[in-house]
Amino acid sequence: MKLTLTINNKKKSFDVPPNRTLMDLLRSQGFWSVRYGCETGDCGNCAVSVDKRAVYSCRMLAAQAEGKSIETFERIGNKKEFQPLRQIFLEFGDIECDYCIPALVLATRALMETRPDPTEDEITDALSGISCRCSRQAYPVDEIRNVIRKMQGDW
Ligand code: FES
Ligand code: FES
Repeated sequence: MKLTLTINNKKKSFDVPPNRTLMDLLRSQGFWSVRYGCETGDCGNCAVSVDKRAVYSCRMLAAQAEGKSIETFERIGNKKEFQPLRQIFLEFGDIECDYCIPALVLATRALMETRPDPTEDEITDALSGISCRCSRQAYPVDEIRNVIRKMQGDW
């Protein structure tokens, strides 16, 4: 089936089988920040932004993204305003492989869309579905909250 969607601000058209996932389509286009994990919606590492909401792309068919705006970490992660957020995750705990960082940043960004000044509980909740296999996965929510507050000037 034919579909058109916007990926990182560029409109693209595809001809895909109806059962192809958004994760598979994005990775086939070289968006390697969309991590391959469980494929069952459990690890959260395949998160992308769909119309500014964090979505686990293994659980979304490419066809369901028709007409939507998809953003991956290739775009978000390169934005200057998100560097402090990325840095917080990188500096925290026992981060070793960086595999989970794109999803963590994208999930935080999606939270900021609806909650510009989120509570610590809201941050914990937003990140709870994303598993990090290297760290102890107790994210530094107070530091994340401080970074979010500082970022609001550029937001
Ligand atoms: S690969 Fe999508 S949630 Fe794990
Ligand atoms: S740093 Fe390795 S999975 Fe999170």
